Amino acid sequence: TAIGIIIVAAGRGERAGSSVEGPKQYRRIGGKPVITHTLARFLAWPKTARVVAVIHPDDATLFEMARSDLVGGENILVCFGGATRQQSVLAGLRALSNAGVTHVMIHDAVRPFIDEDLLERIATGIEAGDTCLLPAMPVTDTLKRGDAAGLVVETVPRAGLYAAQTPQTFSYPAIVKAHEAAAASGRDDFTDDASIAEWAGLAVRLVEGSPDNVKLTLQKDIAMADAKLTRTAL
Ligand code: C5P
Repeated sequence: TAIGIIIVAAGRGERAGSSVEGPKQYRRIGGKPVITHTLARFLAWPKTARVVAVIHPDDATLFEMARSDLVGGENILVCFGGATRQQSVLAGLRALSNAGVTHVMIHDAVRPFIDEDLLERIATGIEAGDTCLLPAMPVTDTLKRGDAAGLVVETVPRAGLYAAQTPQTFSYPAIVKAHEAAAASGRDDFTDDASIAEWAGLAVRLVEGSPDNVKLTLQKDIAMADAKLTRTAL
C-alpha cells in the first residue's frame, strides 16, 4: 500500500468574502496559512507516500511562502487546478500518475483540523480491501425542505443521512477511471469525489468522520478557527 494525498486548493474562496490576503486557504489562522496547517498534518502522518497540492496559477507565490514553512515541503508536488473542484481533483490525479501510489486521499485544503485518528480509521478500511471510503458525520440538525416562497414543505427524516467530509479515499486506478469517465461524459460539477464513485457504480463505505474536521467556508469560519488555535496556544 502506498497512499498519495491530493490537497485541492485552487478555489477562489468567494464565499469567505474578499480579502487582501487572497483566497481562504491562504488566510492565516494561528499565525500560519490554513493550507500550511493542512499540509503539515499529512506530512507528519507516517503512511503518507506522496503529496500533491493543486493550486491556482495566481497563487504560486502564496503557495511557495506556505511551503517554505513546512518540514518536507520541498517534496510536495504542485500542479494547477481548473474552474471547478472536479477539474482540480482530476489534475491532481493525473499529477500522481508516475508516483507509484495504490490509493489516494483527496482532501480540501480548507479542512485544516484533520486528525491522525481519522486518517488511521480510513487506513484500516484500505487494509480491509474497500475501494472507496467516505468519512462522514450523522446529521444532527432537524432537516426541512423549503420551497421558493420560503415556506416549509416537509420535515426530512434524518435517520440514515450523513454529512460528507474529506479526505475521501480510493483505490487509485478505480478513481482515475471514474474521474476520466465523468470528464469524458461532459460533467464537471460533481462537488465531491464519492459522488463520482457512486456515479461510476462503485461501492462507497462510510467511515466515522471527526466533528473537528470542519470546512472553512465563510469569513466567520476563519475567525473561529483562528480563535481556537490562538486559545490552544495560550
Ligand atoms: O468550493 P468548495 O468549498 O467546494 O471548495 C472545496 C475545496 O476545493 C477548497 O479547498 C478549494 O480550494 C478547492 N477547489 C479547487 N478548485 C476549484 C474549486 C474549489 O481546488 N475550482
